[in-house]
Parts: sequence; structure tokens; C-alpha cells
Amino acid sequence: MTKVNNKPNIVLIGYMGSGKSSVGKRLADEVGYKFIDTDSLVEIKKKKSIRDIFESEGEQAFRQVEAQVVTEVSQKEKVVISCGGGVVLNPENIKALKRKGSIFYLRAGIDTLFNRAKRVGVRPLLMVDNPEKEFKKIFSQRKKAYIDAADTIIEVNDYNEDEVVARIIKRLGV
Ligand code: S3P
Repeated sequence: MTKVNNKPNIVLIGYMGSGKSSVGKRLADEVGYKFIDTDSLVEIKKKKSIRDIFESEGEQAFRQVEAQVVTEVSQKEKVVISCGGGVVLNPENIKALKRKGSIFYLRAGIDTLFNRAKRVGVRPLLMVDNPEKEFKKIFSQRKKAYIDAADTIIEVNDYNEDEVVARIIKRLGV
């Protein structure tokens, strides 16, 4: 069900590997909005990579800065916001993002997600003995939070990035 109602921002949520950043950049170009990536802003704020923040300060410290970044970007307008996979863990993040944003959950099957996530970049949460098991465990804990936060669910499994962008635009009716 779509609840998009003329909000000025487009917010992308989803698990690691769902394609939020690449879809978000293309989408921003298409609709003429600015692209914002919460992970990148956390790195700029802390002057450290996400991996270094997790290693030197721990996940909680990362989540705090992530929440600050979310509060700040939620006040902007005409932006596409690609959120780190864990933003749904904090209900305050979702409340803030919803004020001016329509939330799209990019949903894919767990195997597709894992195959993509292990290819793209370093994920500190996966630096464990059995990354696949950990990946699946975290997803099962978060699954409901993604669905609850979403205004619209976009299935991404069988579609390329251009198709995903086109389907989001269609849902927005812009
Ligand atoms: C995380 C996802 C990452 C990043 C951090 C934690 C998560 O972002 O914010 O490593 O908890 O799912 P991506 O979803 O962009 O990989």
C-alpha cells in the first residue's frame, strides 16, 4: 500500500546490499533532488570511516552520530536520503525522517542481499567468523522494523537499478 502524500523528500531504507546508495543517486538525478547518504555524513562528521568508528568507539557511538545526522538531514527539503541499514533500529530516526519524507523500503531476498553485501565495501557488522550466519540473524531481527517503517515497499530482487528508480518514480506520481 502506498501512503505517499506530497512530502518533499524521498527516503530509502533497507538492509545492507539492497542498493540504496546506487538507486538513490540515480533517483536524485532523475527528479532533480540532492542526494544524501547518512553513512557518508557520519564519516564526514567523525572524520573517520564507519569501520574505524565501529573499531575504536563501538556500535553505540556510531548509532549516536547516525541519529544526529538523521535529525539534521530530516529537516532538509528536496533531497533523496539513503539511510544506513540500521536506522530502523531507532524509532526516533523514523519519526524524524517521516516528517518530510516518503519512506521506500528496498526489499530483496536474503541470498541476493548477502551476495551483494559481500561484494560491495567493508561492513563492520560482518567482520565475524561466520558472516553469512550473522547477516541472516541480524536481518531476521530487523525484518519487521523495515516493513513497519515503510510507506511503500519496492521489491528489488528481479529488477535492475534503472527499473527500481522508474518504479519509485511511478509510485511518487511525479
Ligand atoms: C549497517 C549498515 C551500513 C552502515 C553500518 C551499519 C547496519 O550501511 O550504516 O555498517 O547496521 O545495517 P549500508 O546499509 O549502507 O551498508
